[in-house]
Amino acid sequence: MSGGGGMGGERPILMLDSGVGGLTVLREARVLMPDRRFVYVVDDAGFPYGNWEEEALRERLVALFGRLIEDHDPLACVVACNTASTLALDALRAAHPGMTFVGTVPAIKPAAERTRSGLVSVLATPGTVKRQYTRDLITQWATKCEVTLVGSVALAALAEAYMYRGFVDEAAVREEIAPCFVTADGRRTDIVVLACTHYPFLVNRMRKMAPWPVDWLDPAEAIARRILSVLPPGETPEEPKRHPDLAVFTGGAPDAVARRLMHGFGLTA
Ligand code: DGL
Repeated sequence: MSGGGGMGGERPILMLDSGVGGLTVLREARVLMPDRRFVYVVDDAGFPYGNWEEEALRERLVALFGRLIEDHDPLACVVACNTASTLALDALRAAHPGMTFVGTVPAIKPAAERTRSGLVSVLATPGTVKRQYTRDLITQWATKCEVTLVGSVALAALAEAYMYRGFVDEAAVREEIAPCFVTADGRRTDIVVLACTHYPFLVNRMRKMAPWPVDWLDPAEAIARRILSVLPPGETPEEPKRHPDLAVFTGGAPDAVARRLMHGFGLTA
């Protein structure tokens, strides 16, 4: 049991996304677990996940997590990406039986509980909207609502550009979110589920470009609580941490801009 037990406690929580999106989960996790060590993996060599063929992406994720688990001996793994979670959580758990995986999947249940108009939209990547997993969530939790699935081809890349270059094309954001706004019999959409971890970075622009106000549902805090709840009880983190939190890029050494961005999130790249 390498690194296990209350004394050892530097085993990290490993988080993975195709890009910067999972940082929206990391920042919430840090609030709840300030002394925990994190390794944040950017699968930039695979970005964007939204356009991948399903079987190929599933295989990539199983193999990639295999290597990462071996390299970092994490306490738990967080798939901080809806596109990957809705596709590969079962396969990951089957392939790595000793490991705890926490996923991020569209927050359809809380949206269905909160909506007043009954019109809910799920904004995600094209991959997430076509998944059986997503359809099953709707049948399981939202049969009393009208759910509109909106697969955006451009928003994840717009969020990347915004985080790396500080610029976002607001007209493009408006175009991508427009299909979320639906009217029916005098009712209109009142909740948009942010079902891609990249999107909360753009939520202020979305608010600005929206045709009417809605509740933008970001599940990051709920995911952070879930991570906390699955950690083994005896594993108390050391304070201060002996090793820095890391950012790992699958595409090779990150450039200075990427390193600076990661540094801003407390990660050494
Ligand atoms: N952040 C990912 C998600 O939550 C998707 C981004 C991508 O298409 O790679 O779905």
